[in-house]
This record gives sequence, C-alpha cells and structure tokens, in this order.
Amino acid sequence: MKIELGRAGDIDDWMRLVDQVKESFPGLETKAALEEHRNTVLEFMREGSAICAKSEDMIVGTLLFSPERNMLCFLAVDATYRRQHVAERMVSYMLTFMDPQKDVVVTTYREGVPEGIAARAFYKRLGFAEGQLCEEFGSPVQQFVLKR
Ligand SMILES: CC(C)(COP(=O)(O)OP(=O)(O)OC[C@H]1O[C@@H](n2cnc3c(N)ncnc32)[C@H](O)[C@@H]1OP(=O)(O)O)[C@@H](O)C(=O)NCCC(=O)NCCS
Repeated sequence: MKIELGRAGDIDDWMRLVDQVKESFPGLETKAALEEHRNTVLEFMREGSAICAKSEDMIVGTLLFSPERNMLCFLAVDATYRRQHVAERMVSYMLTFMDPQKDVVVTTYREGVPEGIAARAFYKRLGFAEGQLCEEFGSPVQQFVLKR
C-alpha cells in the first residue's frame, strides 16, 4: 500500500472510488454534483492537497485537506479495504502538511446516524474530540477537533 499525493492523472480512478461511496456524503447525489466534485478534486490535486492510498496502482483511499484552514475536507476508503488502517495512514500523512500549532477540524455525521458510526469511531480513535453542532449542504453535522 502506497500513501501519496494524488495527481491529475489519478482523477478517473479517484472518481471511481467516490462513485462507490457517494451515498455516505450529502451533496453528491446528482450527476451535476459529482461533476462539480470532480473539478474540486482536480483543484485540490493542483494545490497538493489531495492524498490517496494505492494498492497495486488502484486507488483505495482518498483524502482532501486544506492546509490554510487546518481542515480535513473529505475522507473515504474503499469498502473492501476498511479496518486496515488505510485512513489512519492518510491522516498521519496529511498532518505532515498542517500547521502543528493549530487545531485540526473535520465535520461529520451527528451521533445516532447509522452512516456516521464508522467515521465518528475513527475520529475519536485518532484523538479528535466532539465539537460544535452545525450544518453542511443542508444536513445536520458535527465538528470534530484534534487539539494541538
Ligand atoms: C471512516 C473511514 C474513512 C475509516 O477508514 P478505515 O481505513 O477503515 O479506518 P482505519 O482502518 O484507519 O481505522 C482506524 C481505527 O478507527 C476505528 N474505526 C474505524 N472504522 C470503525 C468502525 N466501522 N467501527 C468502529 N471503529 C472503527 C478503529 O479503532 C480502527 O482501528 P482498529 O481497526 O485497529 O480497531 C471508512 O469507514 C469510510 O470510508 N467510511 C465511509 C465514508 C465516511 O464515512 N467518511 C467520513 C465522512 S466525514
């Protein structure tokens, strides 16, 4: 398994994984939304803020982050590669690009939502603490904060 920065040439394989996990993400319901997301991913790739995990050159994990906002923006692992510490390794790599003095923020599902069980357990395991309740794409979400 390789953890590396995603490049423009990875976009089709990256979007294959996004298509597999899109039900887990509010805001990716329509073809137009997926097309817009593709352009967003390309922008993150250009800025060196897109991380992927590759197994035999197939993308099995994706992560987008913002070093300016110290924010994890998107995280997904291929269903057949979960619980193998792929996401944990991508987050560790992301942290090497972040300001070590600033807290790291991510938003995810609120408690009680079945889709959020894995993500909430994952962030807690990595040391993120539950933060503010807010909304994203019209859906109720909660911030998780990694204190520095
Ligand atoms: C959340 C997600 C990214 C985790 O990816 P992953 O590669 O399976 O996570 P890791 O293997 O690195 O998990 C590290 C630790 O987090 C915890 N964890 C991860 N998934 C868990 C789950 N489903 N239930 C309970 N704990 C979990 C465990 O403690 C795990 O360590 P362990 O397997 O040794 O017990 C993955 O489940 C996913 O892509 N889900 C769908 C999309 C999603 O929810 N994205 C986040 C939205 S913000």
